Amino acid sequence: MSQQLLIDQSDSILTLTLHRPDKKNALTRDMYAALADAIQAAQTEDGIRAVIIQGSEQCFTSGNDVSDFINQPPGGQDSPVSRFLKAICHAEKPLIAAVNGPAVGVGTTMLLHCDLVYVADNARLKMPFVNLGLCPEAGSSFLLPRLLGHLRAAELLLLGEEVSGQRAADIGLANQALPAGRAVLNAARAAALRIAELPPGSIRLTKQLIRQGVADVANDVMEREGEHFAALLRGPEAREALSAFMEKRKPIFA
Ligand code: COA
Repeated sequence: MSQQLLIDQSDSILTLTLHRPDKKNALTRDMYAALADAIQAAQTEDGIRAVIIQGSEQCFTSGNDVSDFINQPPGGQDSPVSRFLKAICHAEKPLIAAVNGPAVGVGTTMLLHCDLVYVADNARLKMPFVNLGLCPEAGSSFLLPRLLGHLRAAELLLLGEEVSGQRAADIGLANQALPAGRAVLNAARAAALRIAELPPGSIRLTKQLIRQGVADVANDVMEREGEHFAALLRGPEAREALSAFMEKRKPIFA
């Protein structure tokens, strides 16, 4: 198991903690693979009633590791990131997220697959795909307008606008905004504990009914987005934007 993903199973709850503090919990291929394996295994493990995905009290995640994007751009349905996205898209048990600090790129799009989302009021949610010469991923081009309406989704995806945790809760991107830090992780755990005490068959069916039709469409959209995303990642605009980030300079788009 990767030490960059801490896995804890207690009180019938699987807690997955992103733990790469020196890189703001940027997600590597190994971390995606470990997340995918853990979430998939949880679906058939009777002792697990809910899954929490969290970062630290300071940071959720800065998104996909940018040097991985440059050196090992993902492609194909078997890549670790695709396996992770499919695992959260098709999860049958409740997924709960606890978000402190930045949630960049997939850090925000993964929330669209969660059932309950708790955020710090000063969390920073952002999907800067256009800024990086990329396009939406994780089914977000379908899920975000469905959740927020076209105009708000466009604001976030076309302008790459950042939203605070408080605003995320106000517009329906999160259940609740809380004071930053431990309170957010506690809220996620409290919700998971409530679920763990409820009848599992009813919980499973209710999630299935709420997600009826959504997971299959999101999956198809995700595959189409993935093809464009993989092509763009290898293109000049993304190469320049990603190199500029690593070199701590402003990108120049000729
Ligand atoms: N991939 C790889 N490294 C990353 C990273 C990422 N996604 N995000 C941050 N890091 C690294 C930085 O390069 C820096 O490394 P260094 O200390 O070796 O120089 C370290 O993490 C700290 O990041 P820094 O930017 O200095 O922290 P910050 O608190 O000023 O800002 C963020 C935090 C998350 C807002 C900012 O790092 C950011 O915007 N990251 C890029 C996110 C991104 O574009 N992700 C891809 C989305 S598709």
